[in-house]
Amino acid sequence: MENGRWNLRVICLAFFFVTSFSSEFLIQQVTEYNSSYNPKANLGMHPRELRTERPSSKIVTIGNFSVVMERSEPYESSVFEASGYKWRLILYVTGNKEDGGNNHVSLYVRIEDTESLPTGWEVDVDLKLFVFNARQRKYLTITDQAAKRYNQENREWGFGQLIPLSTFRNPNQGFIVQNTVSFGAEIFVIKPVEQQERVRILSNPPDNVFSWRILHFSSLEDRIYYSSEFLVGDRFWRLGFNPKGEGEGRPHAIPIFLYAQGFKPNAVETSTWGAVNLRLRHQLGSNPKRASSAAWYPIQPGHREGVSNIILRKDLQDGYLVRDSIVFEAEMVRVSVTNIVPV
Ligand SMILES: *[C@@H]1O[C@H](CO)[C@@H](O)[C@H](O)[C@H]1NC(C)=O
Ligand SMILES: *[C@@H]1O[C@H](CO)[C@@H](O)[C@H](O)[C@H]1NC(C)=O
Repeated sequence: MENGRWNLRVICLAFFFVTSFSSEFLIQQVTEYNSSYNPKANLGMHPRELRTERPSSKIVTIGNFSVVMERSEPYESSVFEASGYKWRLILYVTGNKEDGGNNHVSLYVRIEDTESLPTGWEVDVDLKLFVFNARQRKYLTITDQAAKRYNQENREWGFGQLIPLSTFRNPNQGFIVQNTVSFGAEIFVIKPVEQQERVRILSNPPDNVFSWRILHFSSLEDRIYYSSEFLVGDRFWRLGFNPKGEGEGRPHAIPIFLYAQGFKPNAVETSTWGAVNLRLRHQLGSNPKRASSAAWYPIQPGHREGVSNIILRKDLQDGYLVRDSIVFEAEMVRVSVTNIVPV
C-alpha cells in the first residue's frame, strides 16, 4: 500500500519540478491579487479538468464540514461496487502526511474484500478522482496517465496532493458551499481483451478461377447482366457487365466488373481484400484481353471494381466473339480471410 503511494509521490515530484514549478507560483500570485474565481488557480499538479458529468462509481458528500475540516484522521466511506470489485473511498481533509499531503486534500480508493480473489491477483484500473465545485456545478477531475495496478501489496491508490488547501478552502473557488463538500471516484477496470481479429491475405486460394460464358451476345439488352455467384475465401463473388457499355467506355467498349456479395455461413464479416485478374478469353488462341484490380470491398454486398474497357467492340471479331458468345474469366489472385483468434 505504502509502496504504491510512494511510487506515485516520486512521479508527482518529478512532474512538479519539470513542468509546474515556476508557473504555479505565478498563478498563486495572480489568484491572491484577485481572489475571484480563476479557472487557472492553483489546483494541483496532476492532469485535471472540469467536467459536468457525475462520477460513475461513487460520490461522498459531507455536510457540516466545518466540524471536521481540521481533522487529520481519514474518513473511510462505505463499500461500493464498481467494475465487479469492492472499493472504499479514503479521504484526508487536511492531507495524508505520509504521502506528501501537507497543505492538501488527499483522496484514495482502496480495494476491499480481496480475500475472495485468487492468489496473485492483479487489477489494473484507470482511476479518476473528483472534487465537486458547487459554484460551477462541475467536477474537478484528477487523473494520471498510467493505469494503477492493485495487488496484495498495493491495495490503495490515489493522490496525496489532490488539491491544495489554499484553493480548496478559498470561499471564492466554490469547493465548500453551504458548509458542504463532495468528492467522487470513477473506477474503470482494464481487463485485457482475450480475442483478436486476425486478417490474413491468401495468395491463389483454392478454386480461384471462375469462367463465365455468355451466349447470344448480339441479342443482349442495354442492362447489367450478372454471372452466378462463386465462393473464394469466405465470400461469394460474381461478375457483371452491360454489353452496351458503361461510363467512358460507352458505347465503343465492353466493360467487366467483379462484385463482392454475401459471406459464407459463420464467416467473420469484415471488409474483404480482393485482387483479381479479369480476362476476356481468346477463343481461337491464347491471347486474352486482361485487366486487373485490387481493393477493399465493403461488407455491404454489391460493391464492384473493374474496368469500363476490357476490349473495344470493334476488336471482338478477332477471336473473342465466337458463335455469338464470349467468355469472361476472373482469377482471384489474393483474397483476405478474417478470423477471431486468442490474443
Ligand atoms: C476580479 O475579477 C472579477 C471578474 O474576473 C472582476 O469583475 C473584478 O473587477 C476583479 N477585481 C479586481 C480587484 O481586479
Ligand atoms: C449541521 O448543519 C445543519 C444545517 O445544514 C444545521 O442545522 C446543524 O445545526 C449543523 N450541525 C452542527 C453540529 O453544526
